[in-house]
Amino acid sequence: MTGKITFTMIKPAAYQNLHAGKILDMILANGFRIVAIKAVNLSSNLAAKFYEVHKERPFYNDLVKSMSSGTILAAILEKENAVESYRTLIGSTNPADAAEGTIRKYFGESIEKNAVHGSDSDENALKEAAFFFSEFERV
Ligand code: CMP
Repeated sequence: MTGKITFTMIKPAAYQNLHAGKILDMILANGFRIVAIKAVNLSSNLAAKFYEVHKERPFYNDLVKSMSSGTILAAILEKENAVESYRTLIGSTNPADAAEGTIRKYFGESIEKNAVHGSDSDENALKEAAFFFSEFERV
């Protein structure tokens, strides 16, 4: 069975450049319900922990630095088949490869500043949602 939730972050550059409103509009227009949302400044320790799965990758240190460089907007989104549906809406990791009409195509600047994060599996969606939100913070 496919899961009903996914987790997203609007990344620092997109937040700083005032794209959060338009990104949330696209999310809502595509039928996602916002279950939880908050603006957070991630410490480098927290960003490192969140992206721990990538710690052997050459881009890890830069990614951690970038994700702790400014405010992010973290959210849990609900929809049938949420992970796959949201990955379609955001487009390829590298905005240069992202399809027309996707969030990363509109708002991504580079593979690192790719506007948004989206969970890559149901299992990671649950983990990532729990990393940021208690049950009390979800509606
Ligand atoms: P995100 O969905 O947040 O998950 C991991 C992030 O690593 C990814 O988006 C990119 O912003 C970043 N990243 C930087 N370089 C690469 C790369 N070469 N391949 C994949 N992800 C990369």
